[in-house]
Amino acid sequence: MANTAILKIDGKEYELPIITGTENEKAIDISKLRQQTGYITLDNGYLNTGACTSAVTFLDGELGILRYRGIPIEQLAEKASFTEVAYLLIYGHLPSDKELQDWDKELTMHTLIHEDLKRLYNGFPKDGHPMAIMSTMIGSLSTYYQDSYDPENPDHRHISMVRLLAKFPTIASFAYKKSLGQPTVHPMNHLDYCSNFLNMMFSVPSEEYYIDPEIVKALNLLLILHADHEQNCSTSTVRLVGSSLANLYGAISAGICALWGPRHGGANQEVLEMLLEIKASGLPVKKIVEKAKDKNDAFRLSGFGHRVYKNFDPRAKIIKKACDAVLSRLGVKDPLLDIAKELEEAALKDSYFVERKLYPNVDFYSGIIYRALGIPVNMFTVMFAMGRLPGWIAQWKEMIESPDMKIGRPRQIYTGATNTAYDNAKKK
Ligand code: ACO
Repeated sequence: MANTAILKIDGKEYELPIITGTENEKAIDISKLRQQTGYITLDNGYLNTGACTSAVTFLDGELGILRYRGIPIEQLAEKASFTEVAYLLIYGHLPSDKELQDWDKELTMHTLIHEDLKRLYNGFPKDGHPMAIMSTMIGSLSTYYQDSYDPENPDHRHISMVRLLAKFPTIASFAYKKSLGQPTVHPMNHLDYCSNFLNMMFSVPSEEYYIDPEIVKALNLLLILHADHEQNCSTSTVRLVGSSLANLYGAISAGICALWGPRHGGANQEVLEMLLEIKASGLPVKKIVEKAKDKNDAFRLSGFGHRVYKNFDPRAKIIKKACDAVLSRLGVKDPLLDIAKELEEAALKDSYFVERKLYPNVDFYSGIIYRALGIPVNMFTVMFAMGRLPGWIAQWKEMIESPDMKIGRPRQIYTGATNTAYDNAKKK
């Protein structure tokens, strides 16, 4: 098989190296293209651009495959804990029992946040979106750790990763408690990662809170399914910001903002709001599908379509199954689940969706489970961020530790005005 590509421009031929990944994916290496030819490549939205090589996550959009460090998502969803998956993504291998015990202990010992940082919550309006609060609080963590956030120092890298993973659930639950006007609940060291989060979210000093193992299990599954997805919008943001050697807190804070958008992680909130609107309006599902197809209408079917998955999203498959199981185990009957299933069925039969290969994505059913677990709608994207955090960290660490790391700096083709004298440009 060829290991170079030939490019012909202006009557000259150039040989470009071909890079092959471990799953036989192929790329043309254009890193010397401008130097050799004076040309750059143009790829709006990066549909065909590989920004890096990576050994963290493999996905095949045509076959609906997703693997973290080579292990199929289906197996991790069934057998692993979220902190185990975080370790796998970050360190590249599954931890031994002892390694996992030490890792869990380390994460447990860093869950508290500085009391002064808590005062920042008082500056936000009660109904401020928790993603904005998360981004601010996570970025602000850096002000407390100025002596240990140098991305080029391995010890600083390690402690920053641990602090972020450990404190994220605390910060998220405090944001929720503040929005309710309830006292914040401190982390408890005897609880595992998911149980501790649920306790901080839902317990109140006046009443004992029962941590339902079914809810813990479902949360663990959801976090695992969201843990990484190679070079998506928020992960690429984390890499780009991190490539300037900004500290990890700043890079993750930027990633949270990227995830918030409705075309990305914000879709899980949009899906639930869409389902609630359909229920309230009583409109038949067929009408909603028509609206989504109408090019004069900006409305899109939230939770449908994916840049990479053009067959099915394997995470959506697992979540749909889990949705039925979780709701029946918890004894919840949610009419939104019926609407979602009806909507999916109608869209999958419609030629518009079939031709464009639009299938339910990870966000289509996740909101229904979050709702059954008692998570408020505006916290859905925060849950996604909590799940994605190990992926962001793993991708950042891989980039920082790579010997050929470069600052991310795309080029452009300029299409504006050519050289214009100030006096000619000034309005008379
Ligand atoms: N509803 C209706 N039409 C859609 C939808 C949708 N959900 N998604 C894509 N289309 C249509 C587009 O209008 C376009 O039609 P055209 O070819 O006639 O112009 C075609 O399908 C291709 O869409 P693009 O936006 O070009 O596809 P892209 O790969 O850039 O976008 C995206 C993928 C952003 C996810 C898109 O499908 C979308 O907006 N979906 C809804 C939001 C969503 O669920 N986001 C979550 C994604 S998963 C995640 O981030 C975790």
